[in-house]
Amino acid sequence: MKDSRLQKLDGARVLVTGGGGLVGSRIVALLKASGARASVLDRFDAYPHSVRGLFDVDVNAHKVVFGDVREAATVRWLVQQADYVIHAAAYADVAACTREPEVAFAANLQGTQTVLQETLRSPVKRLVFVSSASVYGNGRGDGVQEFTESQPLVPISVYANTKLWGEHQARLMLGGSDREFAVLRYFSVYGDPQVPKPGSHSWMVPWLSMSAQIGLPMRLNGGGRQVRDMVHVDDIAHATVLALVAEGAVSQTINVGSGKATSVREIAEMVARHYPAASLVDAPLPEGDPLGGYADTRRSRDLLGWAPAVTLEEGVDRYVAWLKASPDVVPDWMLPVPALTA
Ligand SMILES: NC(=O)c1ccc[n+]([C@@H]2O[C@H](COP(=O)([O-])OP(=O)(O)OC[C@H]3O[C@@H](n4cnc5c(N)ncnc54)[C@H](O)[C@@H]3O)[C@@H](O)[C@H]2O)c1
Repeated sequence: MKDSRLQKLDGARVLVTGGGGLVGSRIVALLKASGARASVLDRFDAYPHSVRGLFDVDVNAHKVVFGDVREAATVRWLVQQADYVIHAAAYADVAACTREPEVAFAANLQGTQTVLQETLRSPVKRLVFVSSASVYGNGRGDGVQEFTESQPLVPISVYANTKLWGEHQARLMLGGSDREFAVLRYFSVYGDPQVPKPGSHSWMVPWLSMSAQIGLPMRLNGGGRQVRDMVHVDDIAHATVLALVAEGAVSQTINVGSGKATSVREIAEMVARHYPAASLVDAPLPEGDPLGGYADTRRSRDLLGWAPAVTLEEGVDRYVAWLKASPDVVPDWMLPVPALTA
């Protein structure tokens, strides 16, 4: 992705927490392409080893540190050598945070507190806190599904609560200090090499595509009526790196979405075009799964000068092409159990 505004990052040192995950690793790749040197701090336990290898972190990062964002000494050492921080590390699955709130608190609250505290005491110029559109919950309750940054926030999951706390804490600790900050609310991220996590009800494109590919019905939770604002991971990385350098982003909270609502059923139908034998089946709506909405994109356009480049149709085509070329990435736990023979 060529964007002359990113030339400002040539030679810059950027700490990316969670740089070993889907989004973080794509950010690291874009930083490298922009001439920056990315350091990664990650626990590397969100995926099995085979999936981790798909993210190319070792290839693109200048330095990779296996560690936890709660380890103050490690974070201190890394932020002292950084010009910028992107804090993307999180227990990043809605269902897992509901099942294990104490793990969510440790990573998303305690870890965020440590990163903010050490950044405050460092020479870092700007920190970008990665938040989520989940903070909007089901919206204002008036049926309007366009989510605007200034509207009241009513999170409906443990995960969303932790993200909202992180937003407030970033503002509380860094607002008025010499360290600049920006908060980004990502909508639904997708794109290869995204692989579902066990027990998750997020990440529709990989879930549905992999189900169709291995001959399982595509489950539509809640009948697939929920809507999602889908943003390709390449576009998410671009917006995030822009937030490090855009003057207008300082102290702002900015949606990162396409501004378009697509129902989960529509996403399934897009995927099914690639799999003629695919079938769709309705399933109950899981706890904490929001009805969804789409981004008000004015701030991302005006403050970041950003708009997504990858359409959903193109992104789904790319994902399915990748999956068909890499069938082994389907996790074992998704595969149907073979019938026992006598
Ligand atoms: N994927 C989405 O649709 C989406 C939407 C909104 C917001 N987000 C946010 O974007 C960020 C990246 O999400 P992702 O989709 O790439 O998830 P991911 O699970 O692929 O990446 C998160 C990374 O954080 C690391 N991590 C977790 N706890 C850690 C800890 N205590 N110390 C160090 N590293 C730790 C994990 O090992 C993982 O590599 C997260 O903050 C997530 O909440 C994602």
